[in-house]
Amino acid sequence: MRLCKTPRFHYELAIYAKLAALVWHLLCLCGCSSPSTTSPNSLFTVTDYRLGLLVTAALALTAGCQRETPVEFSSGERVSTLTPELQTALKAALADFAGSHASPKLLGDDSVDQATLKRGQQVYRQRCAQCHGVTGDGQGPVAGTMYPRPRDYRKGIFKFTSTPYGDRPLRSDLVRTVTKGIHGTSMPSFKLLPQEEIDAVVDYVLALTRRGELEDQLLELVEFEEAVDPELVQDESVPAVINKWLQAQGSEVSPLTSQPVFSEEHVTRGQEAFKTVGCIKCHGPDGRGQTPDNLAGNLKDAWGHPTRAADLTSGFLHGGQRPIDIYRRIYSGINGTPMPGFANSLKETPDTIWDLVAFVMHITNARRTGESPLPGPIAPYIPQVADSETQAAEAE
Ligand code: HEC
Ligand code: HEC
Repeated sequence: MRLCKTPRFHYELAIYAKLAALVWHLLCLCGCSSPSTTSPNSLFTVTDYRLGLLVTAALALTAGCQRETPVEFSSGERVSTLTPELQTALKAALADFAGSHASPKLLGDDSVDQATLKRGQQVYRQRCAQCHGVTGDGQGPVAGTMYPRPRDYRKGIFKFTSTPYGDRPLRSDLVRTVTKGIHGTSMPSFKLLPQEEIDAVVDYVLALTRRGELEDQLLELVEFEEAVDPELVQDESVPAVINKWLQAQGSEVSPLTSQPVFSEEHVTRGQEAFKTVGCIKCHGPDGRGQTPDNLAGNLKDAWGHPTRAADLTSGFLHGGQRPIDIYRRIYSGINGTPMPGFANSLKETPDTIWDLVAFVMHITNARRTGESPLPGPIAPYIPQVADSETQAAEAE
């Protein structure tokens, strides 16, 4: 018989049944060795004992029947500084355009229906919210001690994109990140999930992201107007969010020159360029990032968390191992971090970017293989024919 339909009911019933068994044992230990016998020393009479069992059974039957508090998105920190009236108006406008937890919406894209977003929400709550938070603020219950911290989507800033510096990512960038994970960080790979779940959860992440961006736009509006005028929201705040996403469509960075077959010369030239174009300022001459700023922990990212220039010799390239991934990191930089893009400074000598890629690929596994990256003779990087990632990059 099912007394109530909350999903936790059976789980709690099992716990209470165990508790009842424990109480039974405790009572027996206290002297009531069997319900039919009561020794003169017993602390409990048979009636007490049966009453105890009845209470336990009643608790077990009603457990889980309390209503679960409905989940809602939380508001950004700045919202709480507004007057109560402005807070209410802002939240209403936000729910209107970007949905609520009960009824999510993907701002600026009506082609993604409720059912897909609900499916994405289900996957998200099960697999992502513990790190990224229900609202996508990067403050899930286990996020606190992680380095780097789980992404706070609400700024619309993503690191590992195929678009130019400062642009929004392509949807395919997010699909790739979720599928492959971010090597060397806590972000796991979800490649075992069915494609339909990955697609739905990415749509949901996009919905959380644009909702967060709209909240920021509404806050700006309120600062100027001291009101939430629906017309201004429609004509200014909403376009300010979605135009950036539209602009990113089709802006994928393609290499300026085609990828060479890497040889020792590329690595040697890359090593030289690493010093002359300024990479060593942050990554150090050996690429390990043992620079004063890094060691002092002085660098901050766009989310206000401490960050470091990557240790390029660690064998964990967060942004992907393919030559094209490393190319895009160097060409476009990494959004939200101190890693600058070199598109402008290297556009006159575009092949230098591939030289740097060769050098980064050369040193990337140096520590794992126990090889001192520098100084010393440099062996050429030889792409392995069986390496499917390299082949995929070549096919791009
Ligand atoms: C165990 C914690 C954890 C879980 C679970 C997790 N993530 Fe992450 N995620 C991270 C961390 C940490 C980062 C930041 C990595 C970085 O900055 O290099 C991240 C970053 C991301 C990014 C940003 C990538 C970029 O280019 O900036 C996306 C998108 C993302 N996660 C989506 C998801 C989705 C979707 C799920 C669930 C299917 C998920 N994550 C589950 C920890 C987690
Ligand atoms: C101002 C400091 C700074 C300079 C200069 C700099 N970087 Fe970086 N670089 C960083 C930081 C910080 C990161 C880590 C970003 C993150 O993922 O949080 C990084 C990350 C990278 C990555 C990505 C590593 C990964 O895990 O995928 C590559 C590749 C890289 N840098 C190469 C270079 C090259 C090549 C140069 C010179 C052309 C250079 N960097 C110059 C700060 C810098």
